[in-house]
Amino acid sequence: MTESIAPFWHVTVLTLFPEMFPGPLGLSLAGKALEKGTWTLEKLDIRSFTRDKHRSVDDTPFGGGPGMVMRPDVLDAAIRDAKTRQVAAGLKPGRIVYLSPRGRVLDQALVREIASEGTLTLLCGRYEGIDERVIEEHHLEEVSLGDFVLSGGEPAALCLIDAVVRLLPGVMGNVETAGEESFERGLLEYPHYTRPPVWSGRAVPEILLSGHHEKVRAWRLEQAEKITEARRPDLWSDYLASRPAPKVKKRRARRASAEPTKTTATPDGNGGSHEG
Ligand SMILES: C[S@@+](CC[C@H](N)C(=O)[O-])C[C@H]1O[C@@H](n2cnc3c(N)ncnc32)[C@H](O)[C@@H]1O
Repeated sequence: MTESIAPFWHVTVLTLFPEMFPGPLGLSLAGKALEKGTWTLEKLDIRSFTRDKHRSVDDTPFGGGPGMVMRPDVLDAAIRDAKTRQVAAGLKPGRIVYLSPRGRVLDQALVREIASEGTLTLLCGRYEGIDERVIEEHHLEEVSLGDFVLSGGEPAALCLIDAVVRLLPGVMGNVETAGEESFERGLLEYPHYTRPPVWSGRAVPEILLSGHHEKVRAWRLEQAEKITEARRPDLWSDYLASRPAPKVKKRRARRASAEPTKTTATPDGNGGSHEG
């Protein structure tokens, strides 16, 4: 949470499917930011770095087994070219991430770290993956989207870029919301409600209609703690370890004595605070 966010952010994507970029990132907030030049994207077609007449980017694995492996010589040429272009554009080549199910699982802390750096190179694998020697030669950092297997690194690259871009200055409308989102405080986010105040027989919690900002803040924190404790024991124990224990304990005790809470709402929803 302490890193500063780069005022300008560049990403080079190495892929066999350059037409997949910017894809969804050309729309909405990320698309507007791309148009404005808040971030820049260069996509390099890995196939354009082949030297043989068949333009082959892959070959059979040594030792046998199913599938194909992306060739080290082709990937090496692509990575070197990415760096050369970054330097020519006045950028300092930064970390090179290979999207891989074997990697460190992407989380908000890593997204923040990457957003605080100026330049990123992403390598999207296909087939069975890439020759291990490229990982060693270029000190590639393996990053995974989660414990599942995609057919290629491109969807993972799009997710990573999206998560970074929304943190860049001016991209999100309401900067305040960023600090309260899931994972930013080590907690999942509290529940949201909007009009109508009563829907399908369900009332919005009364406190949210009170206009009492301090109480609303306290209620939201309690809800965030409750949800995190119930759904993500891993995050919850980290959170407890990083917080002054008595405070959290007091809130938990208050919660235990207050439950179950009944929620009511005024039918017109007056008194709600609007934190656009
Ligand atoms: C079919 S996968 C290869 C899976 C590999 N044989 C394995 O079992 O670990 C092809 C490519 O998709 C990408 N990929 C697949 N799952 C991913 C994940 N969970 N996170 C990031 N990238 C992933 C990687 O770039 C990978 O090289």
